[in-house]
Amino acid sequence: MTAQKLRGDVAVLVPAAGAGVRLGPGGPKALRELAGEPLLVHAVRRLCAAACVGQVVIAAPADSVGAVRALLAAVAPVDVVAGGASRQLSVAAALAAADPAFGVVLVHDAARALAPPALIERVAAAVRAGSPAVIPVLPVVDTIKQVDDAGRVLGTVDRAVLRAVQTPQGFRREVLVAAHAAAIDEHTDDAGLAEKLGVPVHTVPGDEAALKITRPHDLILAELFLRSAERETI
Ligand code: CTP
Ligand code: MG
Repeated sequence: MTAQKLRGDVAVLVPAAGAGVRLGPGGPKALRELAGEPLLVHAVRRLCAAACVGQVVIAAPADSVGAVRALLAAVAPVDVVAGGASRQLSVAAALAAADPAFGVVLVHDAARALAPPALIERVAAAVRAGSPAVIPVLPVVDTIKQVDDAGRVLGTVDRAVLRAVQTPQGFRREVLVAAHAAAIDEHTDDAGLAEKLGVPVHTVPGDEAALKITRPHDLILAELFLRSAERETI
């Protein structure tokens, strides 16, 4: 099987170099299996099903670059580089390898393996429509409390103004380049770096299927999402 050519106008950077410590023993998270296939294969297949995508650059664990290239050869024509010691450094490595001709760049965690093509298109469309930085968000369902070091409650945060943030996050290329060039400390997402520069960040609706697979029970949840999505397409 040969991989289908990508024809879109958006580059996607995929940080996939994490160890997956919270998932427990079993190798790098992006290569752990969900319904018989590595998480990274699920993620790449969905990215490449989005018509907007023209390049995919994966930051793989440094000792698995060859294995990841081989794994994806029949799935999609992706570029694979060695990731770094942190997510931020992995994104920076992928960004350095991305074709600068792509004016819109998305950053998408391999750990959000089931993010649907419609979500990917939604984020890219919002950047194309003029937002320099775009994040998909969901409402927060839990009540959120602020606590001190002793675990004593200091107060209740108004959850109506809070959002849980997902990936893919989308950027005009020059914004993401400037955000990473100016980075001095670690951020858990790329929009956080853009915020530091004073760049306005806009939100679009997220998708529950784009859950981040972090702990063992998330794999079970993801499998349920996969099965219900299959039922919908039958
Ligand atoms: N990531 C990366 N390079 C790193 C660390 C993380 O590319 N040095 C990637 C992960 O592969 C994942 C995404 O960043 O796709 C989000 O990170 P996280 O969910 O924390 O994954 P891990 O770091 O692998 O998990 P853990 O923190 O439990 O070890
Ligand atoms: Mg991590």
